[in-house]
Formats: sequence, C-alpha cells, structure tokens
Amino acid sequence: MTAPRTVGILTAGGDSPGLNAAIRAVGKSAQRAYGMHVIGFHDGFLGLMQNRFTRLSSDDLSGILTRGGTILGTSRVKVDKMDLGEGRTLDMTPVMREVVEKHELEALVCLGGDGTMRNALKLAEIGVRVLTIPKTIDNDVAGTDITFGFDTAMTIATEAVDRLHSTAHSHHRIMVVELMGHTAGWLALGAGIAAGADVILIPEIPYDVEAVASSIAARRAAGSSFSIVAVAEGAISRQDAVRHAELVERKDAATGEERAELKRQIKDLERRVDGTATLASELSEMTGLESRVTILGHVQRGGTPSPADRLLATRLGSACADYIADGVHGVMVASRGDTTEPVPLKEIAGVVKTVPLDHAWLSTARHLGIALGD
Ligand code: F6P
Repeated sequence: MTAPRTVGILTAGGDSPGLNAAIRAVGKSAQRAYGMHVIGFHDGFLGLMQNRFTRLSSDDLSGILTRGGTILGTSRVKVDKMDLGEGRTLDMTPVMREVVEKHELEALVCLGGDGTMRNALKLAEIGVRVLTIPKTIDNDVAGTDITFGFDTAMTIATEAVDRLHSTAHSHHRIMVVELMGHTAGWLALGAGIAAGADVILIPEIPYDVEAVASSIAARRAAGSSFSIVAVAEGAISRQDAVRHAELVERKDAATGEERAELKRQIKDLERRVDGTATLASELSEMTGLESRVTILGHVQRGGTPSPADRLLATRLGSACADYIADGVHGVMVASRGDTTEPVPLKEIAGVVKTVPLDHAWLSTARHLGIALGD
C-alpha cells in the first residue's frame, strides 16, 4: 500500500482577506477529493526554510472561511536573497528544497502576490513542484482577471469614502483620502468611482496639482463647495515623475556608492513620505478651501472577506487541488471568468499589472466628470 500523498501550503507577503478561505479550499479538496494529507508552513517562506509546520486536519480547516488574516502567519522575504543583516544576503532556496523533499511533498502551494510569484519561480527553477494562487488587495498580479482580497478592500474603502461625503459637505472642505494599492491604481480607481469621488489620482497618470485645483475650483463655481479627492498611495505628481525618471537614468549609469545613494533617493520618492499631506495643503492654498487628510491604511485589508472574495478564493483553491492531482506544477492558478487556468510562473513572475490607460474604468470616470489630475 502506498502512503497518502502530502501537499504543503504557505501564505506569503502582505495578508489579504480570503487567505483562510483559500487554505481551507486547497486543504479540504485535497483531502476529500484525492485523499491527500495537508501540512501548513508558518510565516511564509521563512517558516518553510526553518521547517516550522503544522499538520492540517479537516477539523483544523473548519470554521476559518470567514476569518480575516491567515491562520498560518506570513512574512516578506526573498528566498534567493535572505537578509543576513549588514547588507549581506544568502540564497536559501536549496534549504527550502531539502525541507520539501524531507516531507516528500507532492506539491507546495504558495498563496501570495507578485513577490510570492517571484519566490515560487525561484523554487520551481531548482525542481520544487510549486503552484501559486494570486491574492492581494492591490489586484496587481499579471495573468489573472482578479486577485482575492481586492473586492473586500474595495468595499471597505468605498464605505470609508462614502462617510467622508457628509462631513466634507457640512464643512465645505476638500477631503483627501489615501488608499493602498502599491504601484497600481486599481483600488483607488475602483473605490473612487464606487464612492463618487470628485478627483481620483493613480500612479499610472502622474498628476498636475494645478489641474486638480482647477477642477475643485470649477466645482465650487458650479455650487459644490466640497470635494473628495481619492489618491492612491503610489500616485505621483508630474514633477516627481520627471525627477524619478532622471534618477533612474542616472542610477542605471552609476556604480558603487553613487548608485547606492541614487537608489535611496528613488526609494524615498516612491515612498511618497508626507505626499498626501503635501497635496492637501497645496490644494488648500490654491483653492482657498480648508482640507483634511484621511489615510485608510491597513484597515483596508483587515477583517472578514467579502462573499465575492470567499467564492473566488474557494474556486481557485479547489481548482489548485485538481491541478496537483493531475501533476501540473510551475504554475499560478489564474481566474478566467467563471473558470481557472494554469499560467506558467515564468510568464508572470516580476510583471506588475497596472491600470492600462485605455481601461474602461478610466473612460467611465472621465464620462462622469471625475478629474484624473491630467
Ligand atoms: O501589497 C499589499 C499592501 O497592502 C500594499 O497595498 C501596501 O503598499 C503594502 O502591502 C503595505 O505593506 P506592509 O504590510 O508591509 O505595511
């Protein structure tokens, strides 16, 4: 008699509503449909490297569908450049492969975003049978229609922006609200449209602060003395975009200490420290209206997943078990309409899905008179 096959699961990167629903779906499907055993590694690739794991029985997988976060814990590491401090890094992929071999895993399932796709590809390249499932509130993973976590985050952000309307109206203020999304504008654009924002600023369209101020002044002249500005955390002004491009060009040509310094300056610019506060005070100065800032932050990815995210995570997790049983690996389980598709990791790892400039959501926003800062 052959021993039951075992599947390993880990969750990596920033957490996202729906992770537990996906763990449950992979685990239950592997157990019930294919008689496999399931183990979960703690804290992402870090726990895999340290062989910190727990067996997941069907009881362990019950009652977690609606829970936010991840029962396995998560971490952000680069598997081939593990940080040893003082600028030193080490490739830990061989150690992780040993752990996978020790457990005789049929497959390792990694739930994560873009960083996880890159880590998983590194493991696939040294022979680990790995599959990934895309999650992130940013919705910026290439090769899939959508990632789970996005719908929940958009719901939370929409409700928050809805609530800003009444207070903005009462005080005749500009309310500048910052949404997450990393370098992509999906969350700000989606929630901004859904909540009726007057201005939406996303990284894909560098903004002209004077154009934003004019649109607010025009609203005021037309009788609306308040405005809601939804700004993505990665949004950048035209001036900063030019400076960013210059710094990148100089960095590419530089070496040694100069290159390191330029990298630091680029990081600072990308981090947009105080960027939203600066934007709010500039708009206030230019329009003569008071402004206030709200930064939604991690509240956008906390708590119970929406029904749509539960369904998506469950669909992808269940399909993942089917792919494992069929011997498919080296792929991301992508959502395609109502079905799924295994997409080779090497086609999507390292590719960020930003909002295309001809995307329908952008033309919708323009038709409605929402200013996009250009
Ligand atoms: O990728 C998800 C995300 O929430 C981004 O929207 C945000 O930029 C980032 O993670 C925040 O990361 P951390 O959890 O390290 O604060």
